[in-house]
This record gives sequence, C-alpha cells and structure tokens, in this order.
Amino acid sequence: MSVAKILCCLLLTCHLSEGKKLKGNRTVVDTEQRRVLKVKQPYVSSSIFRLFLEGEDTCTVDPLQLHTLTSCGFNSSNPLIIITHGWSVNGMMSSWVFRLARALKANLIDVNVVVTDWLSLAHQHYPIAVQSARTVGKDIAHLLQSLQAQYQYPVRKAHLIGFSLGAHTSGFAGSYLGGSEKIGRITGLDPAGPLFEGMSPTDRLSPDDAEFVDVIHTFTHERMGFSVGIKQAVAHYDFYPNGGDFQPGCDLQNIYEHVAQYGLIGFEQTVKCSHERSVNLFIDSLLNKDKQSVAYRCSDNSAFDKGVCLDCRKNRCNTLGYNIKKVCVGTSKRLYLRTRSRMPYKLYHYQLRIQFINQTETIEPSLTISLAGTKEESREIHITFTEMIAVNRTYTFLITLDRDLGDLMLLKLRWEGSNLWKNMWNRVQTIIPWGGWKRKPLLTVGKISVKAGETQERTCFCAMENDVQHVEVLQDKVFVRCKEETTKPCRRRHS
Ligand SMILES: *[C@@H]1O[C@H](CO)[C@@H](O)[C@H](O)[C@H]1NC(C)=O
Ligand SMILES: *[C@@H]1O[C@H](CO)[C@@H](O)[C@H](O)[C@H]1NC(C)=O
Ligand SMILES: *[C@@H]1O[C@H](CO)[C@@H](O)[C@H](O)[C@H]1NC(C)=O
Ligand SMILES: *[C@@H]1O[C@H](CO)[C@@H](O)[C@H](O)[C@H]1NC(C)=O
Repeated sequence: MSVAKILCCLLLTCHLSEGKKLKGNRTVVDTEQRRVLKVKQPYVSSSIFRLFLEGEDTCTVDPLQLHTLTSCGFNSSNPLIIITHGWSVNGMMSSWVFRLARALKANLIDVNVVVTDWLSLAHQHYPIAVQSARTVGKDIAHLLQSLQAQYQYPVRKAHLIGFSLGAHTSGFAGSYLGGSEKIGRITGLDPAGPLFEGMSPTDRLSPDDAEFVDVIHTFTHERMGFSVGIKQAVAHYDFYPNGGDFQPGCDLQNIYEHVAQYGLIGFEQTVKCSHERSVNLFIDSLLNKDKQSVAYRCSDNSAFDKGVCLDCRKNRCNTLGYNIKKVCVGTSKRLYLRTRSRMPYKLYHYQLRIQFINQTETIEPSLTISLAGTKEESREIHITFTEMIAVNRTYTFLITLDRDLGDLMLLKLRWEGSNLWKNMWNRVQTIIPWGGWKRKPLLTVGKISVKAGETQERTCFCAMENDVQHVEVLQDKVFVRCKEETTKPCRRRHS
C-alpha cells in the first residue's frame, strides 16, 4: 500500500469520525437509534420486503419470521442488494424497479435482490413522504439487523440502491444501523433535492452512511428555485452525466409536443426522463460490460466542457455504475462525463489542444475537424471559438465520439472562416489583382495534439513532410501522427 493510500485512508477515518460527532449532536436521531438497537418487543415494519424472483415475480418476506426468507429462496452465502423506490405519484410500483432487478439478477447471478415496497407511505404529499423516509430507513436497518442476528449475515455484504427519495431512505438505513459494521455500499440514483438540498449530513444521504457511497445526479435543472434531484455532492463519488442538469433526449423544449401527443402522461414522461436516466445509466453499466462509461474529476461542468479534465492519475477518473472502482477517497469527488441519448450510453472523450502562432489579426474562426484511427473514422466535428484567437495561445476543446477510433493516425482540419473573410479576399483579388495585400488570411497552426480520455494516450499531429502548418480559409489541411522523436517533447509537456 502506498503512502498516499494510507494517508487517504487516515483522512477518510477522520472524515467519518467527524460525521459521527455531528450525529452525536442530534439528540433526536440518537435516541431513536438506541430505541431501534435495544428493541425487544416485536418490531412493526411499515415497509414490505419482497425477494425478487424473475420477471415481475416476488416473494414477500416477513422480517419477524426470517424462515420466510429461506422459503423465498434467500441464500445467505450470496450478497444482498436492496432496491428502494422513491416518492410515488400514483401509488404503483414503477417499471424501472423490475428492470433493474432483472438486470442485477441476470448479470450477477449469485445475488439476492430484495425490493422495499413502501408505496402506501410514498403515495402521500411529498413533505409527508419525506418524513416517512426515516421510518422506512429504520425498517431496512431492522431487516439487516435481523439478518445479522439470525444468519450472521454481515451487513457489509449489503448494497442498497435507492432512487430519488429512496436514496435518502437508504442513507437513513445506514445511519440507524450504528454498531461497528457499516453497510457495504449505497448507490443513490438521482437523490431527491427538495427538503434535502443544503441539509446537514444526518438529514440526507451522506458518505457516513456506508463504507462506500456513490451517486448519479441526472436532473438538477433548477426551476423556480427548486430542482428534482439534489445538486450538492453527497457521496464519496458523485457523477454528473452531461453536467447533471438534464439529459440528452429528454429535451424540455419537447414538452409541448409530448403533451400534445400523449396528454398529461407526456408531461410526466418528460419530467421522469432525466430523473430516471440515473436508473437507466446504472442498468446500462450491468448490461453493456464492454461499454463502461468513464467519468473524470473536474471542478465544474464548464471546465469539463473545455476538455481540461480528462486525467486519470490519482483516481481522478472512475467507472460509472455497478462496476465503479471502490477506492478510498477522503472527501466527495465530483466526476463529469458526456453520454449518448440512449443505451448504450457510452461516449469516448477526447481533448483537442491546438495552438496558433504568429497570428497578427485577431480573428474568430470556426473549425471543422475529423479524426481517423486504426479502427474507425469520425464524423466531422464543428468547433467554434468563443473568444478571439490570440497570438501563440493554446486552446483546449472537449470532443466526444460514440465510437472508439483505435490509435489515432490522422487529423483533418478545415477553417470555415467567416463569409466576411472569403468575400473580402475575393474582392481584394478582383479589385487589385496584382495583390494589394501581402498575404491571404492565414491561420498558422503550432502544436496540435489529441488525448483520449479512455486510454489516457496523447497523440501529437504534425504537418506532412515539407509542408508548413498554414491553413487557408476553406482549405482541407491534413495532419498526420508525428514521428516518435518529435512526439517526445509533446508528451513531456502535456502529461
Ligand atoms: C450542537 O449544535 C448546536 C446548534 O445546533 C451548537 O450550538 C452546538 O455548539 C453543538 N454542540 C456540539 C458539541 O457540537
Ligand atoms: C447458495 O449459493 C451458492 C453459490 O454462491 C451455492 O453454491 C449454494 O448451493 C447455494 N445454496 C442454496 C441452498 O441454494
Ligand atoms: C513566426 O514569425 C517569426 C518572426 O516574426 C518567424 O521567424 C517564424 O518563422 C514564424 N513562424 C512560422 C511558423 O511562420
Ligand atoms: C510566437 O511563436 C513563434 C514561434 O514559436 C515566435 O517566433 C514568435 O516570436 C512568438 N510570438 C509572440 C508574440 O510571442
């Protein structure tokens, strides 16, 4: 174990004990915790636990009569996953619950999947359902304690997956457990925002609630001061796909069309789309093993958009979904990625760095780029500079592609220019054919390189032999992978 790792673990321990201190100050939680732990009279659970079998079949488990677990087919040598739904508008079990359960069962095989059914409490006004979330957390904690007592089933073999309000419910289960052992993992799928945003760690899902907590934020778009999903980081790893705001293919602009087409269900579908994308991304990680989405640590989404965050050193990147690397981290890490609008969601991330030298006129160009690798060729990618190009400055862009190009070999660049430039040049040529201007408008490309986030490899591009790196308006200019000796300084500079 490296020194860094040990330090990191120490930091984590500090962080966790700090969390406990905070909890100690909250007398309400404390007495309630004690009541759960010391309870001897039969515990009355307000939630129903159903062991998932197949399709939409479940077997109801009575936490007081644990032999019902065995008769339902619970196997205590296997891990336990507990899925908890959120607030319910219609009082029905959402279809995603079974889709997730089936994906877990089909891909992990030796696993017990239990569904928490708290629909009767969840089908209330939202603030009342929020209050019930604690009760349901207690029910889950009680189930885990019973398993521990009667089967010596270790709590750390449990993985709670909660959606929306169910994410905080899972967190409450972790904090009610107390004891020396913690729940192994809690995954929060777009944890609910209203009444949780900005609350203290004991009043929402937090990294203190399990050994490892990961969260996917997919619908934090703020409307009239509130957002459906929580914006703040509440886990060890917080993933913000596409910024976490809302998701591609769920465009809010389509809302009127959806309503016209499907009535109010259309409205519901549009709102649910981004919120439930968190579930679909998680399911995607189980179904498409060869297309695991990678996310990168970044300060915020606009920095990520500039392509400056595709670094994997020191655990700065991680895999989204079930197969996340459970590495020890001190504080919450925010990770960003772009995704497709449908399954498989994976996109490949590239950072383009381009430098312009000897630029005399300040210009505002737009470029079209295409890349070719050993496996595939990309489509054309348009890049627009948001600021004027300055002398010898390096510009960085994020490019995402839905396919893996293999080793990059070739880069084609076209300066779209503005019509202004083109017209002006033509006019100058017509009026003063002998050349009143010393030169055509030119972009001189300095260093140009592309780094693939997924492989962490940087490729430098050079103009072809005996060619200078000048680019004229509307001219296709091809750059090829630099020869090894010229690649070296490029690598040293950027990695
Ligand atoms: C407990 O919380 C109150 C405010 O809610 C604060 O004034 C007090 O200092 C805290 N006590 C400890 C021991 O942290
Ligand atoms: C429990 O699962 C294990 C595999 O993890 C299997 O070997 C064992 O036979 C199962 N027990 C029962 C009673 O099905
Ligand atoms: C840039 O300008 C300097 C002097 O102004 C010149 O020496 C150099 O060759 C130019 N570089 C390119 C790539 O045109
Ligand atoms: C820009 O870079 C070129 C080549 O590296 C150099 O000749 C020129 O002096 C630089 N210009 C400025 C303003 O730094």
